[in-house]
Amino acid sequence: MPEGTRLFARGRHPADFRPDVATEALEGLTKPRKTLPAKLFYDDEGCRLFGRITALPEYYPTRTETAMLRDLGPDVGRVVPDGAVVVEYGAGDETKAALLLAALAAPSAYVPIDIAEGALSAAADRLRALMPTLGVFPLALDFLKPFSLPIAVRGRRLLGYFSGSTIGNLEPASAVQFMRHALATLGPGSQFLIGVDMRKSPIVLIPAYNDGRGVTAAFNRNLLVRLNREAAADFDVDAFEHAAIWNDAESRIEMHLISRRDQVASVAGRRIQFNAGETIHTENSYKHTIDGFRAMAASAGWRPAKVWTDPDDLFSLHLLDTGA
Ligand code: AVI
Repeated sequence: MPEGTRLFARGRHPADFRPDVATEALEGLTKPRKTLPAKLFYDDEGCRLFGRITALPEYYPTRTETAMLRDLGPDVGRVVPDGAVVVEYGAGDETKAALLLAALAAPSAYVPIDIAEGALSAAADRLRALMPTLGVFPLALDFLKPFSLPIAVRGRRLLGYFSGSTIGNLEPASAVQFMRHALATLGPGSQFLIGVDMRKSPIVLIPAYNDGRGVTAAFNRNLLVRLNREAAADFDVDAFEHAAIWNDAESRIEMHLISRRDQVASVAGRRIQFNAGETIHTENSYKHTIDGFRAMAASAGWRPAKVWTDPDDLFSLHLLDTGA
């Protein structure tokens, strides 16, 4: 990094210090409205807490999408050609892909992609054990950046899969850009199945992001625990309160950490001042209408082909194709 862009002081830092994490944290914490990037949630403890969130009674997206995949099996099987290769974006857990693969008539291979190498290879091994004849070609990389598919699957009919409404954690413009890149990667004749959480009443949404057991609060606060370890920070973690706010105009749930009092925290040698009630905005989770999401997909160059919803209209599965 050029000297001039270094945001934190040189000096002795603990063994766990990560300059990239400190730089990203300070970029957000020195803005007039403080933010932290949601991708910092997913250290080992964050992944463990997210796993607990997906099993909470209030957090409907995971179990709804899983049930939908189980029920729609034959429907998906009819529209996806034999020999399709499933390319999964974000594949630290193989559960939903296994249901999708089981629903397809004759999938020929599976390409799971995830930046977390350990979780990816464990999930790929479990899938190989479940479907021993299927070719599995894991790719450990950041799928938001351009990448090439393994030679073994090039030229085959590809079905992209992006589950869990992770697309809702992207700003709408970035979601469109991601879908445009995916179209270039998957190529003509491909299809893309995307799980998208739907716009609904805040009476359902707020508890999903502020559960009674405090698991989501722990997940949010774990960001500060991580910064204390990896960004040489000294946050008093209990001095920040978790909040989930429905922003109707933007159609998104926002997660924040609200300072309970005036305080100062040090991050990699920089002092960050908080007033009582001041927030750190840590995540957006956009909720899309069917038509709104179809319009986004179309503006990325995809043809919205089919959409499934659950009986309570909580969650949607969009099948896109290239019209070829
Ligand atoms: C990963 N992502 C789809 C989750 C969501 O619902 O936006 C992350 C999450 N944040 C709090 N609870 C779950």
